[in-house]
Amino acid sequence: MDSIFEKISSIGVVPVIKLNNPEKDAAGLAKALCDGGVPVAEVTFRAAGAAKAIKLMCEAQPDMLVGAGTVMCEAQVDEAMEAGAKFIVSPGLDIELVKYCQKKGIAIFPGCTTPTDYHSAYRLGLKVLKFFPAEQSGGLSKIKAMAAPFPMFKVMPTGGISLKNLGEYLASPIICACGGSYMVTADLIDNQKWDEITELCKESVKIVKEVRG
Ligand code: 3PG
Repeated sequence: MDSIFEKISSIGVVPVIKLNNPEKDAAGLAKALCDGGVPVAEVTFRAAGAAKAIKLMCEAQPDMLVGAGTVMCEAQVDEAMEAGAKFIVSPGLDIELVKYCQKKGIAIFPGCTTPTDYHSAYRLGLKVLKFFPAEQSGGLSKIKAMAAPFPMFKVMPTGGISLKNLGEYLASPIICACGGSYMVTADLIDNQKWDEITELCKESVKIVKEVRG
């Protein structure tokens, strides 16, 4: 579990993907991300074929760290893991869902933004949280304020992250990585603009390196 956290931290950005047509796009997208130096993805269950997309991305790029996002229930955890997912992300903190993953030894990053969320996460023994939706919930200043009573967490802010504010977030030692869809928008995926995706990933990696050395 810790190695998943370490790999995500070392990459620094996590593309949040909604794939409408996995058969058409999953393999090309996985290659575009890896070519750009971002061999990680959170594939959301907001699209019907999410499990299929996870499977096809894992097959296309076996070394890629593919996780499942917007996971709402235990059945989706099972579906994602069967497809080859290596981690689970949920939009909110659902105690039963976290316990289910913990019992099975599966890394889960639940969405947390309030002291109550963080407190529950602490009681569950979690170490890494998704901070979602980041910008809309108070952004970096709220993340820093939350770290005063809860210094034990690393967070993965997602929501409103772009090339403009990525560096600012990553400069904080509280941040493990930033999630975002800016490099995998519907337009870029549906029109198979793989070179543009690769370029956006490279620009992101450049920022990660500039900030973290
Ligand atoms: C998510 O599900 O994590 C967010 O919708 C991604 O947010 P963004 O589109 O603002 O990057």
